[in-house]
Amino acid sequence: MKRLVYSLMAGVLMSACAGSKMPEDKYDIRVDELLQRMTLEEKIGQMNQLSALESLDAMSEEIRQGRVGSIFNETDPHRINTLQRVAREETRLGIPLLMARDVIHGFRTIAPIPLGQAASFDLEAVEAAARVAAIEASSAGIRWTFSPMIDIARDARWGRIAEGYGEDTYLTSMMGAAVVRGYQTDNLADPTAIAACAKHFAGYGASEGGRDYNSANIPIRQLHDVYLPPFEAAAKAGAATFMTSFNDIDGIPSTANGYLMRSLLHEEWGSDAMVVTDWSSATEMLAHGNCRDTLDVALQTINAGVDMDMVSNAYIRYLPKLMKDGVIPEILINEAVRRILKLKFDLGLFDNPYVDESKLQAYTPEALSATLRIATESAVLLKNDNSLLPLGKEVKSVALIGPLADDTYEQFGTWAFDGEPEHTITPLKAMLSVDGVKVIHDKALTHCRDLKGDGIRQAVQRAKSADVIVCVVGEEAIMSGEAHCLADINLYGKQKELVAELSKTGKPLVTVIMAGRPLTIADEVEKSDALLYMFHPGTMGGQALVDLLFGKAVPSGKLPVTFPRMVGQIPIYYNHKNTGRPAEGNELLINQTPVRAAQTALGCHSYWLDAGYGPLFPFGYGLSYTTFAYSDLKLDKDRMKLENDSIEVSFTLTNTGNVEATEICQLYVRDLVGSVSRPVKELKGFRRVTLKAGESQRVSMKIFVENLQFCGLDYYTYQEPGEFRLWVGCNSDDNRNEATFYVD
Ligand code: GLC
Repeated sequence: MKRLVYSLMAGVLMSACAGSKMPEDKYDIRVDELLQRMTLEEKIGQMNQLSALESLDAMSEEIRQGRVGSIFNETDPHRINTLQRVAREETRLGIPLLMARDVIHGFRTIAPIPLGQAASFDLEAVEAAARVAAIEASSAGIRWTFSPMIDIARDARWGRIAEGYGEDTYLTSMMGAAVVRGYQTDNLADPTAIAACAKHFAGYGASEGGRDYNSANIPIRQLHDVYLPPFEAAAKAGAATFMTSFNDIDGIPSTANGYLMRSLLHEEWGSDAMVVTDWSSATEMLAHGNCRDTLDVALQTINAGVDMDMVSNAYIRYLPKLMKDGVIPEILINEAVRRILKLKFDLGLFDNPYVDESKLQAYTPEALSATLRIATESAVLLKNDNSLLPLGKEVKSVALIGPLADDTYEQFGTWAFDGEPEHTITPLKAMLSVDGVKVIHDKALTHCRDLKGDGIRQAVQRAKSADVIVCVVGEEAIMSGEAHCLADINLYGKQKELVAELSKTGKPLVTVIMAGRPLTIADEVEKSDALLYMFHPGTMGGQALVDLLFGKAVPSGKLPVTFPRMVGQIPIYYNHKNTGRPAEGNELLINQTPVRAAQTALGCHSYWLDAGYGPLFPFGYGLSYTTFAYSDLKLDKDRMKLENDSIEVSFTLTNTGNVEATEICQLYVRDLVGSVSRPVKELKGFRRVTLKAGESQRVSMKIFVENLQFCGLDYYTYQEPGEFRLWVGCNSDDNRNEATFYVD
């Protein structure tokens, strides 16, 4: 049973005390010896992080003055070696620099945005993509990335939904841990290993209204049941660093939240991860209004247990005064510097600070293969009427239409600073290599935000001559990511009109959407014969798409986030509470409602008159070119004890179609009655199963009683006894295979 400190304030007050105990580490002696030799200025210098400047001389001077522990956004290996040489040879103690970069979904070879990777439900492929990123970034001298971003996001208006792994806590926890493993391997000193950074700690995805940087008013139980578990999983996976988030949780900005860093991260989870602020999130607390001045910023930040200050200069300018005035004990500085030095030792930087400039790794066959795999598995087939896809040999000509059919930059998506468009495979580039198919390409619109649509008429006219139309639309990279939030998530500009006009030709229409978020696409679904969703697919996105269109690959992706019918339904997510008046799905909609209907005629259930109750597509939804049947669900027992117990769930999966394909089997659980109300469903397991046409396989998964814990009435987190429902199926709305079990 994990004790939960009831009040966030209790955590903050606790943070004012001396530092927390760190687990034993093999470098403790070397760290202690070095720490004892350091002056206060040198210690505080280690706690300061700079973003790279154009001038090497200016950065070198800061390093010589002992004012820098880390530099990020420098990507040139020669400049990195030059800066490291200054640190190693021109400072009193020769402490190496931590060189960092936002390698969020690839360095040179760009994988799909994390939201797309989550759609693969393939932990191995996601880990492999992170490994590619680490190999390429470390070959340039970068040994720390600010990733994985594991903020749970239930609001498609929030631009940063693109950077995380969706709405589900269990999936995000598993994905985040896989990315940590991919970056760090099991040996941080491996020259290809880079330190991971679990961000943004915490609750950032709950920014009110889907407006970035906004307050997150998260009830304590929801904080512990929904938003924190991915960070605990990252800590357990050994994430070397954490980053504090910009938002406040109920009035406490995370950068000053000692409950997060001291009570949870270091005490309860037992992690000695080094904690860095987000970009100037320290001094942004002046705007938040919880700090009087920058001296107070430095005090609250160090008290909360933050070790390194990203670019705000609060530490470098004000920690000396806080020390001189006896406001803080030196132990707070020592514990921060100890974590920073330990990370540098762990990375092997004292012994191997330089990178071999002749061995830059980029676009290797292994990298491209791993990236093609994850891009293919990240695509989600949402509609395929009359099995239009895959396109058969009878298709001799394809009209490839739309602003994203051949845009090497936009298909990277957000946070892809170092990808090189010239290495990118677009849908057009890939389709031109398909034998026996004539391609008629027309961009139709100047770009996704084209508000004139002057090119639509010509594009539609040209499309009429083809056997099939493939229309590629969606979002430009700039339309999602940090500070890029939308209040309307329809297809932007004249894209809706383009799809509608192409649909009127009567030609088979495949709509492909590349975006950084779920969009409200009910019209496009209705007007298209087939629809494939590719969350910005990265370097190999065009090849993945064409392989899927022509059947060289079969779609397996499932939605990691709910797709609303209308933006007004947000927040809408599958693992919601039942309420006292749950909708039954048969409620009258506004257009079915008689004029002057009696006030109570519509029943009193929880739904929208204009949008109904459910989403356009539920979490976990995705089609294939085959069909699968689930049968013969069995439990090895139907009762579990409260501790150290599990139930084995097994069922038969059959490929009832005529192509080999992969199904992502999902296991959901519902706790019928708790000391507080519980979600109607929670994902507790998933398995990728590949079957030949007609093949059947027995599939099994385990439910561990510890995975049923939640934050109860008294704010403790533990398991309660009770009756549970369980489902296995193809998405979160599939209730066909149900069982019951009990915890005693
Ligand atoms: C940004 C982001 C953060 C990123 C950091 C460094 O503002 O919030 O995710 O890692 O600054 O670029």
